[in-house]
Amino acid sequence: MRILATGGAGYVGSATVRSLISQGHQVTVYDNLSKGHRASVPAEILITGDIADADQLQQTLTEHQIEAVIHFAAFIAVGESTEHPNIYYQNNIANSLTLLEAMRRTGVQKLLFSSTAAVYAPIETGSLTEDSPKAPDSPYAFSKFAIERMIQDFSQAYGLGYTILRYFNACGADPQGRFGENHNPETHLIPLILQVPLGQRQNIGVFGQDYNTPDGTCIRDYVHVDDLADAHVRAIMAIEPGSSHTYNIGTGQGHSVLEVIQAAEQVVGQKIPHQFLPRRPGDTTRLVAQAQKLRKELAWNPKYTDLKDIIATAWQWHKNHPNGYDD
Ligand SMILES: NC(=O)c1ccc[n+]([C@@H]2O[C@H](COP(=O)([O-])OP(=O)(O)OC[C@H]3O[C@@H](n4cnc5c(N)ncnc54)[C@H](O)[C@@H]3O)[C@@H](O)[C@H]2O)c1
Repeated sequence: MRILATGGAGYVGSATVRSLISQGHQVTVYDNLSKGHRASVPAEILITGDIADADQLQQTLTEHQIEAVIHFAAFIAVGESTEHPNIYYQNNIANSLTLLEAMRRTGVQKLLFSSTAAVYAPIETGSLTEDSPKAPDSPYAFSKFAIERMIQDFSQAYGLGYTILRYFNACGADPQGRFGENHNPETHLIPLILQVPLGQRQNIGVFGQDYNTPDGTCIRDYVHVDDLADAHVRAIMAIEPGSSHTYNIGTGQGHSVLEVIQAAEQVVGQKIPHQFLPRRPGDTTRLVAQAQKLRKELAWNPKYTDLKDIIATAWQWHKNHPNGYDD
């Protein structure tokens, strides 16, 4: 299939692009490199472009005879979105509308969208199904929820076929250590923890110790980026014009912040000191996926089920690339 990956030079996008290429798909990456990395994708498939640019988007969709789009491009930092909702609403919501319009005008009928578990209402026990109540709390989460709605409306009105994937916590790196997580600023737990053994920070801050969990810290579901990539490859193949699907992607296992720190200590073989800090606005007690639907309908079966194995891939990447990609 001829596929356009917006934001394909980012963390999840570039892992997915590698999987798609290995399965024989013809991929074009469309990324403005505001957060992504040139070195994370083959140079010959990268178009440097902004999804705000309707003309360039339409030209790219037409010239490359694109059959399906995977839409990763977004700003993703929850905290930043509460300080600057304007740039989140512009880049995530308004620019996604520009993409949807460009697809409609050029007759591209298949879309796979990167959404997030942050759209769900808080829970204190159990796990989240795709039908669990929604209550996007931050401007970031709301922007993703709004895009989901726009996609559904485009599907109803114009016959767009879509699949929405709601990721839980993406983590880990290419097991060969060549590609990995390099957000700037980094806001994700595992890379921040690993900055301690790298000598880049003194300790890891733990936001809140009084949540209603066994050790008082928040619980998340950590899914390896290659398993996420595999879900995209399966999902894109199953989209038909007019079809509509939504899936959670997570392992179904919850780990508290303190458990992640302990697992990282075992992987790196040293103590990683932590410091408790006040709760952060927007953090919820527990985000754990029930991903049975994805397993059943797309035969998705995550390879990484042990958190230590996931952290080991991340550690290998960060140890060999302490400053991330060279670009
Ligand atoms: N990383 C996670 O744990 C996680 C969890 C849930 C959902 N998601 C979603 O997955 C997607 C990818 O996340 P990621 O971690 O790979 O982030 P990332 O920042 O590494 O990748 C996003 C990419 O989009 C590009 N981009 C941003 N605005 C653009 C624009 N206007 N035009 C063109 N390119 C643009 C950036 O340069 C970057 O390469 C995002 O949509 C995010 O909301 C990520």
